[in-house]
Amino acid sequence: MAIRTILHYPDKRLREPGKPVTEFGPQLAKLVEDMAETMYAAPGVGLAAPQIGESVRVFVIDVATAEDAPSDLRVFVNPEIVERQGVQCWEEGCLSFPGVHEEIERAERVKVTARTVTGEAFELEADGLLAVAIQHENDHLDGKLMVDHLGLIRRRLVHRAMVKRGPQLAAE
Ligand code: NI
Repeated sequence: MAIRTILHYPDKRLREPGKPVTEFGPQLAKLVEDMAETMYAAPGVGLAAPQIGESVRVFVIDVATAEDAPSDLRVFVNPEIVERQGVQCWEEGCLSFPGVHEEIERAERVKVTARTVTGEAFELEADGLLAVAIQHENDHLDGKLMVDHLGLIRRRLVHRAMVKRGPQLAAE
């Protein structure tokens, strides 16, 4: 396993849509392990493959953030959100936007279909933070970022803050 470098906005690679996974072999297993390790080390509740420069449709989520909570690692390969219901608002962060937190409106409940790391199809219904995380990470697979959900002024402010922050250090 390895902790990978997380790309920061406005890195252009974050805008590339991910390709569907076609091989469920050891290479995918290794990628998922690296993603989980990178997410936990950050720490964050979700990480999508394009955030570490891998342009494929894979994301990992663990919303069990309480210190004594057991791990709840969920892996989504080739996910599709097939149903969205209701509205909820959360203050979201993103590992590609260090220090940025913005209120974003999302569906309250989602139904998602995806495959496991070994290729088995599954379906999941989620609400609350898990539903927010699924929608946020799924956006990454389409090259869509949290700023795209903001109004023009907030978007400019975040953009300027991130550009001012300067290029990321290789060690980050
Ligand atoms: Ni993100």
